[in-house]
Parts: sequence; C-alpha cells; structure tokens
Amino acid sequence: MLGKFVLLYFLLVFVTNFGLAQEQDQSVDVTRRVDCYPEPGATEAACVARGCIYENEANQPSAPVGTPWCYYPTTSGFTKKSENGQNIVLEATTKNPYGDNISPLNVKYRSNGATLLVTIGNDDRYVPPIDIPQAPSTSTETLKFESGIIGFSGIFSFKVSRTNGVSLWDTSIGGMQFADKFIQIATYLPSKNIYGFGDHVHKKIKHNLERYTVWPMFARDIGPDSGSALSTQNLYGVHPFYMCIESDGKAHGVFILNSNAQEVETGPGPHLTYRTIGGRLDLAFFPGPTPEQVIQQYLLHIGKPFLPAYWALGYQLCRWGYTGLDEMKKVVARNQAAGIPLDVPIADIDYMNHYLDFTEGDAWSGFPAYVDQLHAQGLHLILIFDPAIEVDYGSFSRALTANASFISWPSDSLVPHAIQDQYPMAKNTRVMLGNVWPDRNTAFPDFLDPTNKTNLWWAQEFQTLRKVLAFDGMWIDMNEPSNFDTAGYSTKSSAKSRAARDPSVLASSKLACPIDGSDSTLEIPPYQTWAVYLHQGEYLFSKTLCMLGKTTGGQQNFFDTKNLYGWSEARATYRALPKTTGKRGAVISRSTFASSGRYGGHWLGDNTARWEDLQTSVIGIMEFNMFGLPYVGSDICGFNGASNEELCLRWHQFGAFSSFSRDHNSEGQPDQDPAVWPSVAQAARIALTFRYYYIPYLYSLHYSASRYGATVIRPLFFEFPKDGEALEISEQFLWGSALMIAPALYQGQTTVHAYFPADTWYSLQPETYGQRMLSGFNDVSAPLSSLTPVFVRGGYILPRQFPGTTTTASRLSPFEVLIAFKANTASAGDLYYDGGDDLLPNDDIEQHPRLHWQFSFTYSSFGAAFGGNCEGCSTSVKSPTLDTIEILGYPTQPSFDGIKLNGKSVNLDLTKSFYNSTSQQLILSSKGMIDLSANVKKFTLTFVNSA
Ligand code: NOJ
Repeated sequence: MLGKFVLLYFLLVFVTNFGLAQEQDQSVDVTRRVDCYPEPGATEAACVARGCIYENEANQPSAPVGTPWCYYPTTSGFTKKSENGQNIVLEATTKNPYGDNISPLNVKYRSNGATLLVTIGNDDRYVPPIDIPQAPSTSTETLKFESGIIGFSGIFSFKVSRTNGVSLWDTSIGGMQFADKFIQIATYLPSKNIYGFGDHVHKKIKHNLERYTVWPMFARDIGPDSGSALSTQNLYGVHPFYMCIESDGKAHGVFILNSNAQEVETGPGPHLTYRTIGGRLDLAFFPGPTPEQVIQQYLLHIGKPFLPAYWALGYQLCRWGYTGLDEMKKVVARNQAAGIPLDVPIADIDYMNHYLDFTEGDAWSGFPAYVDQLHAQGLHLILIFDPAIEVDYGSFSRALTANASFISWPSDSLVPHAIQDQYPMAKNTRVMLGNVWPDRNTAFPDFLDPTNKTNLWWAQEFQTLRKVLAFDGMWIDMNEPSNFDTAGYSTKSSAKSRAARDPSVLASSKLACPIDGSDSTLEIPPYQTWAVYLHQGEYLFSKTLCMLGKTTGGQQNFFDTKNLYGWSEARATYRALPKTTGKRGAVISRSTFASSGRYGGHWLGDNTARWEDLQTSVIGIMEFNMFGLPYVGSDICGFNGASNEELCLRWHQFGAFSSFSRDHNSEGQPDQDPAVWPSVAQAARIALTFRYYYIPYLYSLHYSASRYGATVIRPLFFEFPKDGEALEISEQFLWGSALMIAPALYQGQTTVHAYFPADTWYSLQPETYGQRMLSGFNDVSAPLSSLTPVFVRGGYILPRQFPGTTTTASRLSPFEVLIAFKANTASAGDLYYDGGDDLLPNDDIEQHPRLHWQFSFTYSSFGAAFGGNCEGCSTSVKSPTLDTIEILGYPTQPSFDGIKLNGKSVNLDLTKSFYNSTSQQLILSSKGMIDLSANVKKFTLTFVNSA
C-alpha cells in the first residue's frame, strides 16, 4: 500500500515538474519577445485565447521599455512540408490571431550576384511593380541560406549567414505568420547597430535597441514632430530598408519589398519583428561588407538615383503665401542684391488659379515674361503641382477624352451621388472624389494605369502649360495622396488660404468610406497597424482615399498600392519632364517609396522653425541618402511657425551642405529669406559661396551615385565602420568620402564638439584654413559670421570652380583641384562634367556625352606627380581648363622652375602660386594650364622639391 503511495507521489512530482519545466521552456526572456498582441488593449484572457503567453510587468519590474506582455511561444509558426532545391513548402500549424494562415505557403530563395533574395508568399499575392532593373551585385562576401527547425518543435525557421558564421537573420525567435491580411516575420539580429527604416523622425541616426519600439510605415500627410523625445509617427514615404554594422565593422543591408501598411518593431534581443497587412515578403540581403557597398548593392536592386541638372544644385528660394508675382519678384531681387548665390526661385500653389493645376492666377500676369528674364540671368524656375484634379475644368475634361484613369469606386452602388452628381463630367463615372486645395471636389489620377494613358495625359498637361510658362523643374506635393476631410479625420480645411474663400464655393461634400458591413474589410482589416493606432478614432483611410478604391486600371486595390502613389507620380512626372522642357531638370516629391530616387529627389516635409527640427534634418538627409534619394534637403529656416535670426542663420549654414538646398516657409509666416536679416544674408552668402565653389565635387558625387549606386551625403560610420564613436554620430556628415561638415545646431552655440575619426583632416574654415585637426573629439569654433566648420580628409582630391552667384556663371570659371595630402598615401579623386542640363538618352548615363577625369597625386622626397586619366570622355563636351592646383599639407618646398606638364615646362603665374612652409599650403597656378577637353585623354604634371 505504502509502496503505491510512494509511486503515486513520485509520479505526481514528476508530472508537476515536467509540466512546470514545459511551461518554463515556453517563457521567453523579456529581451527577446515577439509581440502577440501588438494592437492596444492586451488582456491575459485575450492573449491566452490567441495561444500566446501572458506575463505582465508585475513579474518583470526591470523589463525593457515597451516589452510585450503577451507574446508568441517560440514554437509558433509553420512546419516544413517539403524542400526541393531552393523551394520550400510550409504548412500552417499554429494560430494566427488575425485570420487563417495561408497553407501551403511557398518559400523560395536565389542569388542575384552577391545579393540573396528570399520570397515568402505564393505567386497570387500582390507585388509592387517597381520594375526593378535586377542587375547582379558583386561582393567579396557570400551569403548562405539555411532552413532549420526551432528546437524539437518541427517549426520552420531560416538563417542567412556569412561564411564566417555570423547570422544576419535567424528567424528561430519564432512568431512567423502569413494570413491574407496579417503577415509577420521576426528575426534575431547580429548587433544593435541598426540604421534606416523610414519615413520617420529619428532623434539619433542609430536606432535604440535597448527598448522595444514600433515604427509604422504608411505614407501620410503629416509633418515631422521633432519636438518630442520620441515620435514614431509614420511620415510621407515608405522605406523598408535598414543597414546593420556587425561587431567586426562589416555592414549588411536588408530590404523588404512590400507596399501595404506595415511596421517594424525593434527590440533588445537584438531582434526585429516586421508586420504587414497584405502582399508578400520579398526580402533582399546585401552582404556589403562596407556600408557604401551595401548601398551600391541595394541601388542595383531598386534602381540608381536620377542625375539632377547642374543648376538644380544651386540655392533655391521658395515660400507658400506670395500674394502675387510682384512679391515673388521683390523677394528674389532683394536676395540677389544682397549677393546671395541663387539659381532657382520656386512658386508654390499661389501661382495657380484657385489652386487648379496647370493654370495661372490673376495676380500672376506677367509671369511668363519674368521667367524669360530669369532665364536670361542664368536662373531656372521650379513650379509646384498637386495630383488632385478638380473635376469641372479643362484638365479633367482632357483626361476623360484621353481615357486617363482615376482612382475609382469598385462598383456603381458605392458611388455617392450627392457628391458625384454635382459634376456633369464626373456624374456617370465611378471616379472617387476627394477634396484638396482646389475649391471643389477633385479626382486622383491613377499613375499605375497599365495602359499608360494616364501618364501620357499628365505629360501632355505639362507640355501645354510649358508653352506659356517656361518652367524647368517640377515639385510634386500632397501625393501620399493627401485628401482633406475624409470622414474620420478633419484638417486644414480651415487653413488660411481656404478660410479666406467664399465658403459657398468650397467643396462641402466629404469623402466617406464604408466602416461597416462587407464593404469595410479593407478599411478596417483585423490588424490596422500603428499608423492607425497612434491616432485614436482614425482609420487607414483617414486623410487619404478609401482603401477599396481601384487603381492600376481597376486591377488592384488602393489598400495595396497607396504607398506607391508618390512613387508612381514621380515616375510619370520624371518621364514627362524631357518631353516638356527638352532638357534635364529635377523633380522633387513629398511621398517616396523604395526606388523613388530613380525619378526624383525629396524634401523632408513640413518641419517647424525649431532647433530640434534643424538637428533632425541632419539625420533625415543621411537616411534619404541610404534610401537611394541623394537629392534631399529640409526646408531651410523651418516651414511651420515663425523662424528667427539665429535659427535661420544656422539653418543656412547647414542647408548650404544639403544636396537640395531650399529656403521654404509656410503661408502666413513672416518672411525668412536670407535678405531679411543682414547677419543671415552674410552667413548665407559665405556658406553658399563655399557650396558653389565645390559644386563640381557635389555634381561628381551625384554622377557616381547615378552611375554606380552610391550615397552623396553619408554618415561618418560609412567611412569608419570599425570606429565605435563614429557609429553614434548623428550631427556631422560627409560629402562623399572627403568633406566633413560639423554644423552648429543649438541656440547660443559658439563651438561644435566635433568628432574626428583617426585620419588626416584639414580645416577649410577661413580662420584656421589648412590646419591639421587632432583625432578624437575637438571643440571647433563655429562663428555666426563665418563658414560653418568644414574639413577635408587627407588622401583625396576635390574639383572646384571659382564661384559666381549662379551655377551658370560658375561653370565659366577655370577648374581647380584641392589636394589634401596624406603621408605615405596616394591621393585620388574625380571630376565629372557634362552639358549640365542635356538629356540622358534612354536614361543611360554610360552613353551620355561627358568628361570623367580620374585624378591621382603621388609624393616622394624628390618631388610629386599629379595625373589625370579621362574615362569615357566625349569630344563634344567642352570644358574650362584646369588652372589651379592647391595642396594642403605639402611637406617640402617645391621648385617652381621644374614644373612639367607631359614633360614640357609650365610657366607658373607667380602672382598666384606660392608655398608657405609654416602652413604647408602650396598653390600652383597658370592660366590655361591643363586642357581637360576630350582631345587630351591623359596628363601628368610633375615637379621636384628644392634640394
Ligand atoms: C504642403 C507642402 O508640404 C508644403 O511644402 C507646401 O508649401 C504646401 N503644401 C502648399 O503647397
């Protein structure tokens, strides 16, 4: 009897312990959880009902911020049914809280050069048509895909790793889901050095993986909130791309091609969880191993950036709220009179007649003649265009005649006749009507229309306007697309410009989307993402169109394509540009998607005139360079709110180093063009004159980005990925590899605590010109009345041209090179030069007539040699001569008699040439010294040192 009790006791103990052990096995450390209740309102009962584990803060007082209390067991996901070569078939086994998992589910992988591609999802799922050129990448590294099983669970996971064993992705953290409207994948990461994902305000360039943070990605018309300590708000565009720097300094990148509403949650594992509510997962892994190589591989995958016209690198002056042409003329003239270099005045929606695209308002008569004057002075004009077309005027009528397509209701029964029937032209159509700047209701062109008729009509509208108003570039705005007052959201209809108008003419009928019944499934999917949860009472359609709208000529739902709207409009506009002007120009788009850089640049949207916004602009321009949009800048002086003298001054000092450099201001705000304050005018003149001096270098960087795939502006860690300090630097940046800018970004600041990675750096500030900087952190002076701290890196050669006040004038000056000497190292650099605004036939930059010089400089104790080799140079391109060579850090007195070009003596201009043995600055100058035109493919200039 006793024996039986003993046996029972041991059995009980065993079962209890085993059960506990089982439970303990299931629990996941607070640093490595995949959230099973990502929407607000988790309770234990609701969590357990999902088959997930609940453990709240009572048990975990020191858990990282944002730790999910309801999380997936690691044994959630799919089991592997079969594996055949690079094709794997999975079966759904565990629960998906937001719908049934799709089963069977295909996983495929393949390589494109060094890039590893993994597709999760069946062929019938939506894939964004970004028509990727698919050029194979190269790398010294190889990536390997391995499928596996989590523990003994039979649950599928996979790893992507390097040959050194480092896993870039390891999905054995669990939590994979794939239902029609809820797809999730989670992975461990090899380090916490994560950069990218957009479009958001990041207060630091490096993500904070000490905590959990959810970053929604869904194009939205909302300005960046840089004032908060943390704003995860999704902004205008979508870039599901990040870069990671591993512990040994190797870089890799990951891109997830998907255009649905989506989000990423980063966590301390380090790990990330990616969630999207449609489409499929097309993952691309880029092996680097340097950060620039990652970007090159990424841009081979999504398309390399367009090459802006040369003039588009000049300074641009804009504001919303000009009362008419006279005010615009006055502002442009006063800045020219103040000697501010200026290439591009811009007109905002004010120039239109009642905000109708392709029209001119009454207060703008004389605009065409003024544009002719601007052109005669070597300036260019950019105009704004919004996608929304009022449905009762010529543009809409021509669109209907051209069979252009607009985003439409899926069935006649959904058409709201109270709105539709007000408009004879729209009455018998399904066109979905919204309400933006124009007085009455508007339609939204379907730029994804596969017949191309929409894009042809769009191009035709530009051409018709261009016949009367000779603009040179296009600024496309409101293309998330933004729609005011979609029921459930109300904004801006009270903006000054609308409020001032007669309310009886304004569109009163608001777009309403179905929020119950069977028509609401796309409007309110089971999981709505944090793009919605961040704003209580809102929906996916808030401030935009209904998700059930039909796009792509009726074939797709707006639910799937909304994030591509700005991208598709940029593509249509970029293609319209050469047909319209016959020349190269620039397109700037507010909403962007991966691959938008092929068609245009970007400004960082409606920032505020605050110091915090200046600070986050530095991060924004670096991130958009990582996203393949190197032509980028923030609204200088700040858009919303009144700017002030010191802020506007510092913003100009920084903004002169953004590739897209534009002062822009909101309606109703006091003027903030540089001429408003003498101190700002002085600082802007100095900063922009420096910029104009080095635009040949900036343009050459854009050429490299367009031809090979590269950043133009880059974070310090791109060049110094093994330097732990550089990994954290958010407030300094580089132009290419060679020029470092450390702007003053704080009120009252007089010095910048700048970081100099171990290398040779020379100051280019006038007060300390040519001085070598110590490595590490240094306080450098940042006067209000001088140049912002700028440094050149030893080992590089930068082309430049003595600046005029337009790029048109600067292009006539002789070329110069700045050589920054580095001991025991040859210096190198290049110069790209072309017609400046000539077209790239078939977008083929390699066929384009150009001069592309590779420069090198070598030194020995006997003397030095400066050489040039012209690559792909065309005889049709004429260029100024290279007249001046400046060398910083030149160690020895050279002999000015023994200078030879290709073996023949050069007579130096001794009024300009000198060597200063204290500052080690050397200038060699002679008028017409080196002919860079194409009949000369190579040169060598040599000189000897004095004995
Ligand atoms: C919103 C844009 O972001 C802003 O730059 C522009 O001035 C206004 N729309 C008016 O067009």
